[in-house]
Amino acid sequence: MPLIHECVVTTLSPEGRPHIAPLGLIEERGYWIAAPFRPSSTLQYLTQNPKLTASFVDDARIFAGLVTGRRNWPLTDIEGWPAPRLSAALAHAELVVARVEEHEARPRFFCRVRRIESHRAFLGMNRARAAVLEAAILATRLDMLSLEKIESELAYLQIAIDKTAGEAEREAWDMVMEKIAGYKDRAKIPATR
Ligand SMILES: Cc1cc2nc3c(=O)[nH]c(=O)nc-3n(C[C@H](O)[C@H](O)[C@H](O)COP(=O)(O)O)c2cc1C
Repeated sequence: MPLIHECVVTTLSPEGRPHIAPLGLIEERGYWIAAPFRPSSTLQYLTQNPKLTASFVDDARIFAGLVTGRRNWPLTDIEGWPAPRLSAALAHAELVVARVEEHEARPRFFCRVRRIESHRAFLGMNRARAAVLEAAILATRLDMLSLEKIESELAYLQIAIDKTAGEAEREAWDMVMEKIAGYKDRAKIPATR
């Protein structure tokens, strides 16, 4: 399996409005591949404008926010490049779509990296941030998973939160847990947290 870079992707609407969404970019044989599911704005916008910016962040609240409806994360323009980056990005990459592999569920946009720029120091891996990332992905796939699977994954991830989270990671975790609890409530299943 190739390496996947979990990042926040900026695409542009036909009016030039930036759209941000968390996405995993697959690094494979010199390409970085964006594979957005149908239907999604990211897919639509990439089809219309073949340029994207990947922002690499260490603030778990951004991933948690984006999967729970908070989209107003500050953006910073990039000189000579149309799609802005997250202001919080430790680094960003500018990507140009070179070719598209069509698929009925999940087309693949094969991109070339035009430029990578660093902005702030990366201060090391953290288990709680990784746990929030996993929970955020889980939160976008709730209707595809059994309740048992959701519960067991969250119970395991909670260990990393309890042992290694700072304030920001705890806040991010709570945001995702609130969304999952709401899903359970709607499904008339008592929340166990
Ligand atoms: C860390 C992370 C990685 C994700 N990677 C993908 C991906 O590779 N493809 C995808 O379709 N959705 C992915 N998602 C879910 C999308 O962000 C989500 O479907 C989002 O709503 C995109 O839709 P939009 O472009 O309409 O905003 C990911 C979510 C998270 C939290």
